[in-house]
Amino acid sequence: MEERQVCRNIIRGEVRMSLAIKNGQIFINNGLIKKNILVENSKIKKITNNNIKAEKTIDASGKIVLPGIIDSHVHMREPGQEYKEDFFSGSCAAAAGGVTTFLDMPNNKPPILTALDLEKKRQAAKKSIVNYGFYFGTDGKNINEFKKISNVATLKVYMDKTTGNLIINDESVLNKIFMRFKRIAVHAEEENVERAIKLAIKNKNQLHLCHISSREEINLIRNFKNNKECKIFVEVTPHHLFLTKEDEKNSFFMMKPGLKTKKDQDALWKAIKDGTMDRIATDHAPHTITEKESENPPYGVPGIETMLPLLLDAVNNKKLSLNDVVRLTIKNPAEMFGIKNKGRIETGFDADLVIVDMKKTKTVSNKNLFTKCRWSPWHGKELRGWPITTIVNGNVVFNNNKIENINAKEVMFNNKR
Ligand code: DOR
Ligand code: ZN
Ligand code: ZN
Repeated sequence: MEERQVCRNIIRGEVRMSLAIKNGQIFINNGLIKKNILVENSKIKKITNNNIKAEKTIDASGKIVLPGIIDSHVHMREPGQEYKEDFFSGSCAAAAGGVTTFLDMPNNKPPILTALDLEKKRQAAKKSIVNYGFYFGTDGKNINEFKKISNVATLKVYMDKTTGNLIINDESVLNKIFMRFKRIAVHAEEENVERAIKLAIKNKNQLHLCHISSREEINLIRNFKNNKECKIFVEVTPHHLFLTKEDEKNSFFMMKPGLKTKKDQDALWKAIKDGTMDRIATDHAPHTITEKESENPPYGVPGIETMLPLLLDAVNNKKLSLNDVVRLTIKNPAEMFGIKNKGRIETGFDADLVIVDMKKTKTVSNKNLFTKCRWSPWHGKELRGWPITTIVNGNVVFNNNKIENINAKEVMFNNKR
């Protein structure tokens, strides 16, 4: 029986051991090719057919090597709600799920609304074992803080009710926010999706529509996607792709936006196929079992550990191509957020890699999870295709169900994205 294991031999900073990954099928230029990868000083040094030598060697025969997954939407709960998750536990879950970079949302308790709040979060995140970046929050009253912050993914605007109290409804406040911050991600549902798009067109923003879940929403977005005034990026979660209302057995399956019908789910898959959908991100939203069983259960499900296995299983079932998975969870997140030096296996790029075994079959089990909440909506589900080794900045942080505690880094966003 597999048990989760954490090695707490904390190694601070970068480990500069050279690493050779041999005989794997490497994902380069939209296809697989057998090559050896040499990693030095946290970067990909060489991709070659020749034999290579390094201080550490991994034999990837029969396995696929992908760039690390970039989960562009997570809630790691720190600072403030470390009893649900913290940057160490959440990043262990990430590593176990093949995720080498995550972007963390600002609806903490208290929320991230000032430059000082962001700085405190930056300090807390230093214990993460995968790379990370942050969104900045707004309550409509902190517009003066916008100019004091730098290197964030986008501003996050909550237009509908969900965990936290950051909802903004007033049109003039929303307009002012869209005017003052170029890149905006929104939690917008139903008619608020159109409202967000119109505000973004008016103010020429770059708009990221989080967790789109219904047929009406995606059809509306399709009509606006080619507008000339603003770029629109669309995100979907694994739970909306793989679950419907019918699966909502209890409060553990309650999240915002809620699960929809089969008809909606089909529309999301169609949008993946026709390119309307840009990204899959987990909306990893851990809450404790006690909270979920309470009279007023909070919205949200964990997901960072299970996204890649779910998607690889879908590849095995011919529902997706490996190219789709790489485009939606690696290439597009890297490009759309302008994350420097990530998202590709290429000489000079950061050595963020995941080795996957497409033939490995395993059942998701609550007891094996690294997330602090220790439950998953996928508990009991057998999946084929799993990450087996995760490499962050050239360091092996997850291998054979074991975690190595090595600190990672904050990502850098390109301002010209
Ligand atoms: O289900 C959700 N949970 N949706 C959100 O928008 C927020 C998240 C959370 O933070 O718990
Ligand atoms: Zn949301
Ligand atoms: Zn969220």
